[in-house]
Parts: sequence; structure tokens; C-alpha cells
Amino acid sequence: MLFDSHTHFNNEDLTSLERQALFNTVDKAVRDGKMSGAVDIGFDLASSEMAAEHARTWPWCYAAVGCHPHDARTMDEEKLARIGQLAGEDKVVAIGEIGLDFYYDRSERDVQRHWFRRQIQLANELMMPITIHAREADQEVMDILKEEGAFSEDRKKHFGHAGVLLHCFSGSAELGVQYVKLGAYISVAGPVTYKNNKKTVAMAAAVPIERLLVETDAPYLTPVPFRGKRNTPLFVEYTARKIAEIKGLTFEETAAITRDNAMRFYGIGGQTDEGV
Ligand code: NI
Repeated sequence: MLFDSHTHFNNEDLTSLERQALFNTVDKAVRDGKMSGAVDIGFDLASSEMAAEHARTWPWCYAAVGCHPHDARTMDEEKLARIGQLAGEDKVVAIGEIGLDFYYDRSERDVQRHWFRRQIQLANELMMPITIHAREADQEVMDILKEEGAFSEDRKKHFGHAGVLLHCFSGSAELGVQYVKLGAYISVAGPVTYKNNKKTVAMAAAVPIERLLVETDAPYLTPVPFRGKRNTPLFVEYTARKIAEIKGLTFEETAAITRDNAMRFYGIGGQTDEGV
């Protein structure tokens, strides 16, 4: 059974009809025993409100709430307080996605840094896992995570790991291994299936399977063989198949292990310890 650790039912390009159809498709996959669930990830306040609403509606849907670096310029302390409130809901399982994106630079870098730090501080206060977006900012993301105590002993004691997830990780094998040593989890998305992406294949080979999650980041980053079409949580299957191939495991084993890792990372079903 597959679990999509990072998706966007809250994407603003979906019409409400398209969104409903998407929910129905995943709901059917859950009832057919193909999927066990997905986490709808917020990227600003409005999308975080939506994600929380989706988690209230669908038993298999969970939410993360937070502000993406692209949207950092829309943030203020009042919105942060509301994100903190949403984070208190039962099925809101993480703060995210948060981080730095120096590729698009859609918000000024200092603004990105400020709200990245503030949201790590919020996650520490509430003792919540965090989901990280990093693009062209690998070193600085690592530095800020360390400076803000994201890998603290307190967090490790609480979660049984650091409660840090590098979403759609595009860093090197060395960096992936370094993160795992710090207690983080690594999530792999559709690009691992792209023909020329040797870097992510090497990274997935180097990181222990116990620390790997799979995700879609739907509606973006559609894996092969559906590249070019709109992505859906069901296509997490193709990323899991690629991980199975890299790790020399069966697809079923890979689906089960990555799902268990996601449960453990997000603390779903009371699983917070290693080796469940
Ligand atoms: Ni995302």
C-alpha cells in the first residue's frame, strides 16, 4: 500500500470539479487497498486552511500547514499565529512546506530567511515535524536548520528522529547521507524516474531505505511514463517502482517500507519510534 507523503490537493490551478474528481480517485484507490493515504501540503495561509479542511473531510488525508519560500512575502505574524492554530488540529501532522528557493527568488532572500526561521521556531514550540523545500540553497538551508535547533536532542527524544523531512530532495548522495546522520528523512519525487537524473538515483542508493519516503508533489513533477500529463497521488507508484529497482527490493516491499517511514515521520497511527 502506497502513501503519498507530499501532494497538493490545495493547488490553486485545480477547479473545484477537478479537485473533487481527484479526491474520488484517491478515495477509490484507498478503498481498493492500493493506497493508504496522502498529506496535503500548505504553501501559504489560504492553501494551509484548505489542506486542514481536506484533512477534516477525508479519513485518509492529512495536512501540513506553512508558508513556502515563494510566498514568504505574503506572511506576517498574524498569519503565522493562524498557522500555529491550524497546526493544533488532530490531522495536521507537520509544519510545511518551508525553506529557501534561490532558483526562482519569488520572495526576497532576506524575507525567505526570516519566515523560514520563524516557522522552524513555531515547529519547535509546538514540537511538530517540518517539511523542507530547498532549491539552489542547500548549504544555507542546512545552516539555518542547525542554527534554529531543528536537529535538537529535545526533538530527537520526542520523535525518535529529528522530525525533519527534505521534500523532493535534489541534493547529492553525500548531502543526503549527512542529513540522515542528523536524524532527518529524505523524500523522493517523480524526477528520480527521469532518464538523465543520475544524481538522485545515486542519492537514493546511498541513503538507507528506512529513511526514504516517496511523494508526488502533484500536480507537478509527473513521473515517467506519464511525464507531460498532470500528476496525481496515484502516480507515486512509479517513484516507488524506481526506488524498488535502485534498492533491489520488490515493489510491494518498497511500498510498505516507505509507507511505514511516512507514518513514523509524521507520527500517524502513534508510530514515533524507529524500526516499526
Ligand atoms: Ni510541494
